[in-house]
Amino acid sequence: MLIAGNWKMNLDMSTARQLAGSIRSSLEDPGPVEVVLCAPFVYLDAVYGLVHGSPISVGAQNMHAEDAGAYTGEISASMLRSVGCSHVILGHSERRQYFGETDKSVRDKVVQAVRHGLVPVVCVGELLDERDKGEAEAVVARQVRGALEGVAYPGRGKLVIAYEPVWAIGTGRTASPEQAQAMHAHIRTELSGLFSEGDAARIDILYGGSMKPANADDLLSQPDINGGLIGGASLEAAPFLSIVRAAMRADRP
Ligand code: 13P
Repeated sequence: MLIAGNWKMNLDMSTARQLAGSIRSSLEDPGPVEVVLCAPFVYLDAVYGLVHGSPISVGAQNMHAEDAGAYTGEISASMLRSVGCSHVILGHSERRQYFGETDKSVRDKVVQAVRHGLVPVVCVGELLDERDKGEAEAVVARQVRGALEGVAYPGRGKLVIAYEPVWAIGTGRTASPEQAQAMHAHIRTELSGLFSEGDAARIDILYGGSMKPANADDLLSQPDINGGLIGGASLEAAPFLSIVRAAMRADRP
């Protein structure tokens, strides 16, 4: 199980530090549940300094696919590693929607992240219109294959998928546990076509989209839901920790 907070473009340095500090000080031993804080680039170093030595890891929300060079404004995988990041969110729907990310650009970034020992959290998910037209499974399958085709299995715990139906992000409208489970099972089938069945069974597939304390238990108890990627509810310590506790209750081998 993995619970990751995606802070998106929120908080200032002082509130980011407060949030990381209070999550660290209030988090009891999460046992097998991994906890990751995905902060804006400019806070990563500070957040890492605050959680270093605790069970909490730090992730970024994006990165560039090249090693270094004339890419003004961009951040590389090695830069992320050098400030203590272990994870990086790639292909979030907001990046696909507003910043022109494609399956191809996501794949290039996945390859680069893995090469540098970062765990890519690859986001997939359909638009409402695509779900209404009955295309959700095909869209998500295309995104999974697009991001991972030809990528060698990086090893247990080294690749994470997040299913985030776009219509559920920031809307307060959550996929039902049954809808989410059905899509997660479908994603796992796609993964077993790309890797082996055994490897696919062990890849964490997170659900994201209005996950909050009130619905976390139901979502996380589904057999193919292995954690959550949390937006709004990760911006305060109490709801985020309450979701981490739901994951601890739901954790299965
Ligand atoms: P919300 O939890 O705010 O719906 O955001 C989900 C998300 O996009 C996480 O990456």
